[in-house]
Amino acid sequence: MDKLNFNEIYNLDCLEGMRYLPPASIDLVITDPPFAIEFKAKRANYNRTASRVLEGYNEISKEEYYDFTFKWMTLIYKLLKDTGSMYVFSGWNNLKDVLTAIDESGFKVVNHIIWKYQFGVVTQRKFVTSHYHCIYVCKNEAKRRFFSYARYGKDSIGLNGGSLHYEDKEDVWNIKREYWNGDQKTPTKLPLELIKKILMYSSEERDLVLDPFLGSGQVAVVSKMLNRQYIGFEIVKDYYDFAKKRLDQNIYRISEESKNQPILLFDKPKNGFSYKRPRNRRKIKRHS
Ligand SMILES: C[S@@+](CC[C@H](N)C(=O)[O-])C[C@H]1O[C@@H](n2cnc3c(N)ncnc32)[C@H](O)[C@@H]1O
Repeated sequence: MDKLNFNEIYNLDCLEGMRYLPPASIDLVITDPPFAIEFKAKRANYNRTASRVLEGYNEISKEEYYDFTFKWMTLIYKLLKDTGSMYVFSGWNNLKDVLTAIDESGFKVVNHIIWKYQFGVVTQRKFVTSHYHCIYVCKNEAKRRFFSYARYGKDSIGLNGGSLHYEDKEDVWNIKREYWNGDQKTPTKLPLELIKKILMYSSEERDLVLDPFLGSGQVAVVSKMLNRQYIGFEIVKDYYDFAKKRLDQNIYRISEESKNQPILLFDKPKNGFSYKRPRNRRKIKRHS
């Protein structure tokens, strides 16, 4: 293999795959790397209906975690344009390694975002973990692009009379996890709303978005929905197949019960994807 195509994903180790990408070709990286907390994507995890959760999530040991993180970040540093940005998700367990690798590979930290989600299970002897870290970094602070009014205008007012523009810009993001009841799923999936927010503030249509650790393919799928170009890698074949199917068939959720009749949450209109909002979700009016 000597060349990779954009708008395609690959069943490859990203440390190998990224070597085939041209330098300074990527506008935005959104990624949620493996955890190194001996997370086993066993079907019993998270108390989910066993047969619908894909197995085989590829984990990195705690001892190797810093070297591994430094390696992939160094590769990304070369691939990112000067105008580009990267958002790296991390639990608190390995945050130290992630932050050190960010510094050592040359990135500048722009924000440290907290994603607050619902876990839904009460713990008895400690507090419930209900947040994730998201480190927003760039290569060149002066050239970094940020589309400040992509979601709310300066004067957008919410139901409680507060500024939506301000609230949306706070660095604690309260976004619910998605439960795909009855559908095929992978154990660690970023919600659509979270990826959409990042894409809107840090990219434009036709920009190229990379996720080296695709999992279920959420970053590529949502990028495609918003008319961004995408590329990405996933080392586990089952996950790759799952993500590839979603992208090729333009589907958001794959129904397990009706295997050949996926739930279509997207249509493919002339210019790409559209997303059909589930009926019970309230539409918030946005001003631009
Ligand atoms: C935390 S998950 C990503 C979940 C994803 N953000 C989603 O929304 O579904 C990390 C993924 O990286 C994959 N992975 C681990 N090491 C990898 C490597 N060297 N190259 C590519 N993928 C890898 C794992 O198999 C796993 O699916």
